Amino acid sequence: MLVSQLIELAKQAAGHSYAPYSGFNVGAALLSADGEIFLGCNIENSSYTPTVCAERVALFKAVSEGKTRFESIAIVGGRSGEFADFTPPCGVCRQALSEFCDENFKIYLGNNTGNYKVYTLSELLPETFGL
Ligand code: THU
Repeated sequence: MLVSQLIELAKQAAGHSYAPYSGFNVGAALLSADGEIFLGCNIENSSYTPTVCAERVALFKAVSEGKTRFESIAIVGGRSGEFADFTPPCGVCRQALSEFCDENFKIYLGNNTGNYKVYTLSELLPETFGL
C-alpha cells in the first residue's frame, strides 16, 4: 500500500464527515498489520462531548472486527473539502492509538498538494502512559 493511496482513502473518508458544528472535516485510513484498511471520519453531536474523531472511528471499527495490530494511519482534515493544512491527531487519539500500536507505527499527514508529513507514534506521543 503506497502512502499516496492511503492518503487518497483518507480524503474519501472525509467525504462522510458529519461536522455541522465545527465545519471541519477529517478523514482517516488505518492500515492493519495484515493489510486491511479501515476508514473513519469525525462524527459530531449537538451535545458536543459525544463527538468522535476520525482516527478513533477508524481504530474502533478495526478493533471491533478483531484487528489489534496496525502499521500506519493516514489523516487529512480541513474545511469545505479543502485539505489546506496538515491535521495532526489530537491527544486523545494519540493515546487511543497507543493502546494497539507500537512506537514505530507511522502517522501520515496529508494535504492538498500531494506532500505529506510522516511521524512515528513515539514522536507524537513520547513517554506514553500504559498499564
Ligand atoms: N477532529 C478529528 O476528527 N481528529 C483529530 O485528531 C482532531 C479533531 C475533529 C473533531 C471535531 O469534529 C473537529 O475535528 C474539530 O475539532
